[in-house]
Amino acid sequence: MHIQNQIALVTGGRSGMGRATAEHLISLGAKVALVDIALEVADVAKDIGAIGYTADVADEKSISDVLDKIEKEFGACPRIVVNCAGICPASRTVGRDGPHPLDLFEKTLRVNLIGSFNVLRLAAERMSKASALNDDDERGVIINTASVAAYEGQIGQAAYSASKGGIVGMTLPIARELSKMGIRIATIAPGIMETPMITQMSEEVQDSLKSTMLFPKRLGKPEEFAKLAAHICENMMINGETIRLDGALRLAPR
Ligand SMILES: NC(=O)c1ccc[n+]([C@@H]2O[C@H](COP(=O)([O-])OP(=O)(O)OC[C@H]3O[C@@H](n4cnc5c(N)ncnc54)[C@H](O)[C@@H]3O)[C@@H](O)[C@H]2O)c1
Repeated sequence: MHIQNQIALVTGGRSGMGRATAEHLISLGAKVALVDIALEVADVAKDIGAIGYTADVADEKSISDVLDKIEKEFGACPRIVVNCAGICPASRTVGRDGPHPLDLFEKTLRVNLIGSFNVLRLAAERMSKASALNDDDERGVIINTASVAAYEGQIGQAAYSASKGGIVGMTLPIARELSKMGIRIATIAPGIMETPMITQMSEEVQDSLKSTMLFPKRLGKPEEFAKLAAHICENMMINGETIRLDGALRLAPR
């Protein structure tokens, strides 16, 4: 798909990899709608030349309403969807204070897994009814964000790993289902990236994370994620796959 003039919906777009992806897509000529639960998304959107919508990705009605507004304000439905919204809480299955709070486990799955699925299923329905974009009958592309924690989650990451493992697991069956509609889906599994999710952690934790990096010996940059997302849009043979973006990192147990 040529990115120029396409409408792109980026969730979690207020910050980190979502924001970097939105900025990169705009630099390549896309028209971008940012969705985030944080109210500041409107200011970020204004700064980067997008339109911002405050919504919870896991809320059916809110996302339907956002898609209606996008069609009205942009004149058509998004052909690119990048799911970056996510949370990363930590809790042990059995900790000092008792078992893992069930509501925290549920919330993590709700935002990361159900939220990604909610956005992609509602956007894909609209894409499926839109006209083909090229001779291959392509109608759209969906990019999800998992994590290397889907494969080697650390101590305290049962909920996060389950949510990201779910994203990896649903990628192929969704690709199979949407193929007849000309819609591709791919997942990016980042390693440790320099975004607020990580930079808000203590120096000690960040140093320990950096020390596990192989090459390059630094955290990943949000722009590196953005470039891969754009490449997935442009390269039609990428479909149904999860791509690790981690500099050969394999997470240790802690
Ligand atoms: N930073 C890393 O090292 C890393 C590694 C692997 C995977 N990831 C994943 O990458 C994605 C982007 O993370 P990031 O590092 O850019 O973090 P970030 O915290 O900078 O951005 C996440 C954004 O998601 C938004 N959000 C949270 N809950 C939401 C909801 N219910 N509805 C809408 N928006 C919501 C937040 O407000 C925030 O702006 C996440 O899914 C994260 O799990 C991050």
